[in-house]
Amino acid sequence: MKVKSIFLKNYRNYDYAEISFADTFNIIYGNNAQGKTNIIEAIFLCASGRSHRTPKDSELLKYGREFFDIKLEYSRADRDERIHVVYGIENRKKISINDIPLKKIGGLMGHLNAVIFSPEDLLVIKQGPAERRRFVDIALSQLRPSYFFDLQQYAKILMQRNNLLKSISMNQDLAGTLEVWDHHLARTGARIMKARREFIKRLGEAAAVRHEKLTNREEKLKIVYDPSFNIGDTDDAGEIEAAFRQCIRRNREKELQKGTTMAGPQRDDIDIRLNGESTRIYASQGQQRTSVLSMKLAEIDIMKEETGEYPVLLLDDVLSELDDRRKEYLLDSIEGIQTLITSTEKRFFNRDSERCAFFYVENGSIKRE
Ligand SMILES: Nc1ncnc2c1ncn2[C@@H]1O[C@H](COP(=O)(O)OP(=O)(O)OP(=O)(O)O)[C@@H](O)[C@H]1O
Ligand SMILES: [Mg+2]
Repeated sequence: MKVKSIFLKNYRNYDYAEISFADTFNIIYGNNAQGKTNIIEAIFLCASGRSHRTPKDSELLKYGREFFDIKLEYSRADRDERIHVVYGIENRKKISINDIPLKKIGGLMGHLNAVIFSPEDLLVIKQGPAERRRFVDIALSQLRPSYFFDLQQYAKILMQRNNLLKSISMNQDLAGTLEVWDHHLARTGARIMKARREFIKRLGEAAAVRHEKLTNREEKLKIVYDPSFNIGDTDDAGEIEAAFRQCIRRNREKELQKGTTMAGPQRDDIDIRLNGESTRIYASQGQQRTSVLSMKLAEIDIMKEETGEYPVLLLDDVLSELDDRRKEYLLDSIEGIQTLITSTEKRFFNRDSERCAFFYVENGSIKRE
């Protein structure tokens, strides 16, 4: 998958821009606040239908303007396509592919695939389990639309069941209806847990290989699924469901007291360890960054396995905390994948200038050198 060119009008701090990209590494450099991330954001928008920084399209519109317009051309193994995104103050965002309007944003899936790595991704390690579940849920939903559907179903079941648990304390007669919800919770929850177990295993294996390469075999990254109750090492949906039911029975009294569901996918976590120690507690900033990078690269490897092509890689401000060696290993390990990299310093790439195309960004204007 290669992005060939992008055209922007009234997007963020750009009046107008038109750029062609190289198939290899594209280094977008310039001082702070000049418009580097804005370029990456526009490409991600064409891939996913939304910005990675904000859910509000109005923020993407250049101050004082009435519409923005993005046109992107890309090629994949079997075809070339044009994606067109228009947004106006009066109208909602409209997206078309090869001039055919999409009815839903979801229609973008399976066209331009892009994986973005930005500073916010460090939260996967630094913050609590919710951020890690989010990482897995987004990656898995892209691969399996049925997983996304199960997640939505589960959220509804959980809410209903929690409401019921609270109501029972006031009205004991309702206790008889709880079992139906136990059943739905265990059935749908088990499907989610099975998908997570399989995906995290695959992600963990690919990330371990990536991490070895990024650190010249100095560090071992281990990623393991850490569900909220013990399911042994099974990935069988029936066995997971049985374990879930048992857990629900064990927790019955406590759940009635507290009025909430105490176990299930909503309490899952992923254990991320470097040389056996928790990355969140012990790893340095650079080690944390490298670990998330390995997870993102693993995501790319899985996408390649599933679709036959590497997605476009968007690296925003990733290199600032990596030393020269890690940076070199990173570039070597993504050779052949079209990559856009933002950086405040061109000189970081002096040694790699042969395999890079350079773009200088200043105050909402971008020029290829
Ligand atoms: N809707 C908008 N209209 C006009 N300008 C905007 C809009 N949204 C953001 N900007 C401007 O865009 C600039 C930031 O662009 P961007 O985030 O791409 O910077 P950057 O080059 O990546 O900087 P850094 O190196 O700090 O990450 C800021 O000056 C900001 O004020
Ligand atoms: Mg930036």
